[in-house]
Amino acid sequence: MSIEAYQPLCDRLGLDVGIIPYTPKWSAAPDFLELIVEHALTHKPATIVECGSGLTTVMLARCCAVNDGGRLFSLENGAEFAAQTRDALAGSGLDAFSTVIDAPLAMQAVNGRDFQWYALDDLAAIDIDMLVIDGPPGFIQRHSRYPALPLLFDRLAAGCTVFMDDAARPDERELVGMWQKEFPAIEQEYIGNERGCAVLRIGQS
Ligand SMILES: C[S@@+](CC[C@H](N)C(=O)[O-])C[C@H]1O[C@@H](n2cnc3c(N)ncnc32)[C@H](O)[C@@H]1O
Repeated sequence: MSIEAYQPLCDRLGLDVGIIPYTPKWSAAPDFLELIVEHALTHKPATIVECGSGLTTVMLARCCAVNDGGRLFSLENGAEFAAQTRDALAGSGLDAFSTVIDAPLAMQAVNGRDFQWYALDDLAAIDIDMLVIDGPPGFIQRHSRYPALPLLFDRLAAGCTVFMDDAARPDERELVGMWQKEFPAIEQEYIGNERGCAVLRIGQS
């Protein structure tokens, strides 16, 4: 994927493509970004939380600016990536709409298993209207992104929509199955885009 592939989205949002924090392997693909941008612009969520900062952060913060409301909290375990994302937000004038939270990975027990997952000490007790899951990286452990739902579930507002990137990977397919068993009432959809996207709708059925 080359950076030119992001030009249409940047044009739509009025973002300078030269300032977005982009790396071919780690940045979300344009078709995933289109999904979350479309949702954010249509539904205007008041509070967005994401796991894993970068390109998604800048685009979602820009959506809040376009919507003239809403705030994004981005959990980031890597200090260097947090700094990079903050620079891109500042350079795009998006500080007022977004906070990158330094959230080092900490061992946490979830349903009898130990996971390295974001420390939530600095995430305020907020009602989350949109949750984007794009971390922690898969190499950290098996089912790396599984804790997101059980650990944040109490903060998800009725009507919250959850988007998980990379849902085509076997590990993510398995953990979506684990969520399905644990939260049978949640409506789930799989979108077969480039890397696969799992969409979960809380209390919307
Ligand atoms: C899939 S990336 C998140 C990408 C982000 N949502 C975006 O669209 O740019 C998940 C995590 O990988 C880590 N990461 C990002 N770039 C990396 C790199 N070049 N090498 C190693 N880890 C990286 C960061 O901690 C990031 O939060």
